[in-house]
Amino acid sequence: MITINENFKALSENYLFSEIARKVASYKAQNPKAEVISLGIGDVTEALSESVIQALHTAVDEMADRATFRGYAPECGYDFLKNAILENDYLARGISLSSDEIFINDGAKSSLGHFGDILSANNIVAVSDPVYPVYVDTNVMEGRKITYLACPPEKEFAAQIPDGKVDMIYLCSPNNPTGSVLNRGQLTAWVEYARKHKAVILFDSAYEAYISDPTIPRSIYEINGAKEVAVEFRSFSKTAGFTGVRCGYTIVPKKLQAYDKNGSGVSLNALWRRHQSTKFNGTAYIIQRAAEAVYSIQGKRQTLATIAYYMNNAKTILDGLKRAGFKAHGGVNAPYIWLETPTGMTSWEFFDKLLNECQIVGTPGVGFGPSGEGYFRLTAFAKAENVEKAMERMMALFYS
Ligand code: MLT
Repeated sequence: MITINENFKALSENYLFSEIARKVASYKAQNPKAEVISLGIGDVTEALSESVIQALHTAVDEMADRATFRGYAPECGYDFLKNAILENDYLARGISLSSDEIFINDGAKSSLGHFGDILSANNIVAVSDPVYPVYVDTNVMEGRKITYLACPPEKEFAAQIPDGKVDMIYLCSPNNPTGSVLNRGQLTAWVEYARKHKAVILFDSAYEAYISDPTIPRSIYEINGAKEVAVEFRSFSKTAGFTGVRCGYTIVPKKLQAYDKNGSGVSLNALWRRHQSTKFNGTAYIIQRAAEAVYSIQGKRQTLATIAYYMNNAKTILDGLKRAGFKAHGGVNAPYIWLETPTGMTSWEFFDKLLNECQIVGTPGVGFGPSGEGYFRLTAFAKAENVEKAMERMMALFYS
């Protein structure tokens, strides 16, 4: 008799964004004329940059010619992309790494989800509350025990270090969903905690390109000692509009170790390489060429312009919410705005009200964890004209 992974029974029936998509589809079916504006899932709306498009065309032409055609890509990425990442994202910022510490993938989500494969199911996982649901759901699937870290509003939603010992710590800065960032002091405290407890930090910096404050670290490796305790996950999705193209990378330093049952150190870089070469056949050549183009002079300029466009949306949302009488957080170093729902209204009630009365889709805070109740997330990833329209609708409904 075939049996299931019982851990799946502990998951909610649908992934958060699938549940929202289901509700919106049902609303649209009943209200076919409604002009629904999505500020829900953080999905980009602006076209890929010209540099990326040109690189894609060139790579497609190479695939059409026997002389330049490529088959399987190296499982951990082509050197041309790893070197571009190394030079631009790390060496240029004073962080020394080597290219065999970089693993190219098809976006941060899958590597974040799979990284647990190389770690024991007995590890205790710590996540912030509220949290990006992927960290929780993937660990529930593997049967790990999860502990929630307090993220008090008076501490700007920064994950607080626990009194006890945990083994796997997920940190996300700039944060999805609260839009907050961890400063150097806070990250240093986490690195010290991880070193003391022989824990590993899984640092999700998918939104680092949105940091405008130069004092905020963009990489955890800006903190001394982090290479011994941290993995970093990055993505071209939000940096360069690759949500539908799929490319990201993970940094697994060679100094980083976890321990076997006898307490002997084992290289996570070696285990992750073994994992990827077994379960992954590499990101497509044309996509890696497209990602490389993000680092060309023109590519950088075009990418920055798109980021500025989204951050201008964030400002429109923050200003609009303030005028309409809401308290809102984030949206300065991150493309997410975390607002407080009107008194007495749960985050799903607010979701329904916004959808039914303003035709705006957002994300209920409670979908990100128990402490998200009473909050609601709006994304700056949208067309500017829709953001303006959405704020006008909210003003009309809530301004008093
Ligand atoms: C979000 O809206 O939280 C993100 O788009 C989800 C993701 O990046 O997978």
